[in-house]
Amino acid sequence: MPKVVTSQMLMNASADVKSLEMVNVEKDTNETDEEIKARLRERFNILDDMTRAVKKGTVRAMIVSGPPGVGKSFGVEAVLGKHDTMAQIANNEKLKKYEVVKGAMSALGLYSKLYQYSDAKNILVFDDCDSVLLDDLSLNILKAALDSGKKRMIHWNTDSHMLRREGVPDSFEFKGGCIFITNIKFENVKSKKLRDHLEALESRCHYLDLTIDTEREKVLRIKQIVEDGMLEKYEFENNEVEEILNFIDNNKKKLRELSLRMVLKIADLRKGFPERWQGIASMTCMRRG
Ligand SMILES: Nc1ncnc2c1ncn2[C@@H]1O[C@H](COP(=O)(O)OP(=O)(O)OP(=O)(O)O)[C@@H](O)[C@H]1O
Ligand SMILES: [Mg+2]
Repeated sequence: MPKVVTSQMLMNASADVKSLEMVNVEKDTNETDEEIKARLRERFNILDDMTRAVKKGTVRAMIVSGPPGVGKSFGVEAVLGKHDTMAQIANNEKLKKYEVVKGAMSALGLYSKLYQYSDAKNILVFDDCDSVLLDDLSLNILKAALDSGKKRMIHWNTDSHMLRREGVPDSFEFKGGCIFITNIKFENVKSKKLRDHLEALESRCHYLDLTIDTEREKVLRIKQIVEDGMLEKYEFENNEVEEILNFIDNNKKKLRELSLRMVLKIADLRKGFPERWQGIASMTCMRRG
């Protein structure tokens, strides 16, 4: 039986870095569709709760790992964005500011970015920014930034024009929060050296694996979000949505990717080519052979 841990229990677990290990549900082949859906729902609720906790400052850092296109960025940004609107309405300077960093980033760039967001009210989201997770120097900076001691000092002891020009000091205290969103499943990393490094980071963060690994789990997540109304904006008839879901389920082995993004692609085709959508989707969304 999978262990059941509610999001409230996790919130109560304060900053205990080991607490999320408890939700590592073993793959249980006896799980019914409904049980899998309930597990995924719970995981995404925890993603929301933990993002809120980083926002509040109760949790300083979180790593979210899951396959492409399942709603990781969407979930985190929906929670942080909600707060943005509130900040604008209240015009409250004290509310946190956040930035989503995507793509490549050097260690120096990371240091400077952490300085810019070093205030306790700030959050940095590293979204698919794996260069910071795969580079020794960057990882060492992050380890200092997220250490569990009272004062998290970061140093840059090499002279840098860039830092001088931007007025960044050669050491500072980082008080902000960090969220890492990644497709890397830490325990599957092959290189021992890198895995040790990542483990050191993981020990300073809450680690949330969304546990969407199998085709079945991906299809169920897709069904769940479509049932929640993901395709409402297309104004499909009920049976048309059903057709799209059946098409995805029947072709789950052939589709280039099983993700919410794929659902949107197929929905676009269903809308744009009511007669030919299946044929076109076979050509553009599926692997050959
Ligand atoms: N709960 C949801 N309701 C409606 N649409 C959603 C939901 N979650 C995700 N989506 C949509 O699905 C698509 C993929 O989601 P998202 O970009 O968050 O995936 P991701 O897990 O961050 O993927 P990647 O790892 O490739 O960055 C986006 O177009 C997003 O708007
Ligand atoms: Mg994303």
